Amino acid sequence: MANIDSEIDKLECKIYSNTDENMKKLADKILEGELIIFPTETVYGIGANIFDEKAINEIFSIKNRPKNNPLIVHCLGYYDSKPLTDLNKKDDYWFKLLADNFWPGPLTIVVKASKILPVNVNCNSGYVAIRSPNHKSIRSIIQYSQTPIAAPSANMSGKVSSTCLDHVKKYFESYKVNIINDDDYISIYGIESTVIKLEDSEISILRHGFITEFDLKLFCNKFDNIKLVDKLNLINNISPGQINSHYCPNKPLYILNLISYPDDMILNEKKEEICNVTDNYLKNSILIDFNSICFEYKDKFLGYVDLSSNGDYKEAMFNLYNVFHQLNDINCDKILIYNFGNIENIYTKSIWDKINRASKDSIFIPINFL
Ligand code: TXA
Ligand code: MG
Repeated sequence: MANIDSEIDKLECKIYSNTDENMKKLADKILEGELIIFPTETVYGIGANIFDEKAINEIFSIKNRPKNNPLIVHCLGYYDSKPLTDLNKKDDYWFKLLADNFWPGPLTIVVKASKILPVNVNCNSGYVAIRSPNHKSIRSIIQYSQTPIAAPSANMSGKVSSTCLDHVKKYFESYKVNIINDDDYISIYGIESTVIKLEDSEISILRHGFITEFDLKLFCNKFDNIKLVDKLNLINNISPGQINSHYCPNKPLYILNLISYPDDMILNEKKEEICNVTDNYLKNSILIDFNSICFEYKDKFLGYVDLSSNGDYKEAMFNLYNVFHQLNDINCDKILIYNFGNIENIYTKSIWDKINRASKDSIFIPINFL
């Protein structure tokens, strides 16, 4: 590829292959106040040195991110994150156990912040969100720069997160940023980390993600004095990033519910007319399916794609943002996604948290008219 390692002055965006030498160079750039876009096992991040006020502010402005939405701080693990926290003995003990169990990996832990944490990183909230990513390049940069790196997901605020190089290039090619090209690395999990809050020996989920409620319950059940509590709806416990719509494709997304009327409820003289209206509504839409549930109706739609034709939730999560990105480039009126949110599975909340936030509304179509 011609543009790797080249200085693309015109676009100002520079792309680096993932050599050790380049990671040292990028560590220097982070310390000089530049921004780095890097892959992780969840989604790509856009990061800066937490102690560089100007660079942190630049992340907010480049992404058009609301000023009240704090950034996750990326560290190597428990020991380098400890100075950023202000925990009593018990919570520090749980923090370390959580880190031992889940790090490096897709779990972000929100705890009381110490005084050294710059207030523009956590929006002066008194808390800090810390995650230890499981990907070689960003770990090397943290190691070489010896600084924690604050990074939100690498997308414009409210838009679909990025899971491969093409996605981040589309968003940031014309900005002064440094992008790591990790041999076309595609994120392993496809969705963001789970964000939890740890306080007074209680854990609560702030954002559903790849680590499930079930995983956290298993963790808590191993010990006597720590509990998983549901505080998601308490106002002082809502993660600022969870309030607005998010992950949105560039055309409206609706959740499709298929319902069935008993035959005696159908007005036969109106049936043809309603079938025509339904056909017209569907024919300019793309359907996103799961587990081939709507396969028999696929010709009713302009296009059809299945997140996992054999009902594998991990595959569906892996594909979700990629499908959204692909549909951004397709000409259609709207996107419909089949409502598989009622099917019980440990990953249902993880994936439906994203779909619910990305969608505008639900629609109901009687299968009698298909
Ligand atoms: O997988 C991930 O978590 C990715 C990769 C790049 O690490 N990052 C990510 O960052 O998804 P972002 O900024 O898109 O989402 C961070 C979430 C937001 O909902 C934000 O409000 C919440 O974490 N958050 C960050 N700091 C917080 C804090 N101090 N207190 C409460 N919530 C916080
Ligand atoms: Mg994000």
